[in-house]
Amino acid sequence: MDNKKILFSGVQPSGSFNIAGYIGAISQWVKMQEKYRCVFSIVDYHAITVKQDPQTLRQQIKEMVKIYLAAGIDPNKSIIFQQSSVSAHTELAWILNCCGARMADLNKMTQFKDKVGANQESASVGLFDYPVLMAADILLYSTDLVPVGEDQKQHVELARDIAKRINNQFGDLFVVPQAVIKEEGARIMSLLNPDNKMSKSDPNQNNSIALLDNIDLAKKKIMKAVTDSGTEIVYDKEEKPAIANLLTIYAQLGNREIPRLVKDYKGKGYGDFKKDLAEVVAKFLNDFQDKYNKISEKEVENVLREGARRAEKIAKSKLDEIKKAIGVK
Ligand code: AMP
Ligand code: TRP
Repeated sequence: MDNKKILFSGVQPSGSFNIAGYIGAISQWVKMQEKYRCVFSIVDYHAITVKQDPQTLRQQIKEMVKIYLAAGIDPNKSIIFQQSSVSAHTELAWILNCCGARMADLNKMTQFKDKVGANQESASVGLFDYPVLMAADILLYSTDLVPVGEDQKQHVELARDIAKRINNQFGDLFVVPQAVIKEEGARIMSLLNPDNKMSKSDPNQNNSIALLDNIDLAKKKIMKAVTDSGTEIVYDKEEKPAIANLLTIYAQLGNREIPRLVKDYKGKGYGDFKKDLAEVVAKFLNDFQDKYNKISEKEVENVLREGARRAEKIAKSKLDEIKKAIGVK
């Protein structure tokens, strides 16, 4: 075996995957494939923590595989697999529930609180426990690095805490993982309200641009995006959060540097800037969708089958080691 570091990440097959998840997570994965041994999961057991329609879920799992492939994840270099096809994930989640995770940890998770708001009593137990399943995903593969958007940082911290606690009690079972968060683009904001993050669960679809959006519609969404007071294109997250967000999207999808963009748009107004950004987004989506549409169902099936086989092998042997250490085997 080589001594490359191990990288694990995943996306839920729910909602329409948008440019924020692409920029924050998947775009870093593609680059990291060359340097690390990578495992990328479609985390369907995370998706069912909120209500899903079975038919739609089945469809979205396949869609997510195509999105990984179209984005440039290479199944010959990286493992791509569906979480539920490797049962070690839920088994380890149970063990971590009992031996590592504490109520106090989960009570601190801000994503759970943000998601359920006042409806805590009717939320599923799975939604509350979701970060423990995420810790199991990560720890099963002896993961060193977890590239995610900023909203997942707290969950990776929890995986670290659980790993350290278990290592203290049972010996060095787990590698303590580290989150990898982009300096720019780790938190893309909503197009209509730059105080909120762009989210695929947002009921107003004008807040986000899905990777599979109709291209004219995507352009219109950019033209309708809110801007700040004033007229100048400057990068100031505090004073001009809307323009800062649009500049980030421009830089990330158009492969440009923000300071350079600011220079180029000196003396120009928001209208010109948004028109150009709409074209950048259109070109990105066009290229992406071209690749996406060329991927066959057969290819998706093959990738998932081979991915499950490879992931299972690693996960199973780690789970056996853990079962022995805690005394059930
Ligand atoms: P999700 O689609 O919610 O499963 O998230 C998939 C990945 O995208 C995770 O690594 C998230 O942290 C990341 N992500 C989600 N929303 C954003 C956002 N608004 N900005 C940057 N990254 C994001
Ligand atoms: N919770 C992550 C999200 O919603 C998805 C996820 C599940 C994940 N397991 C993971 C990400 C393990 C990184 C590593 O975005």
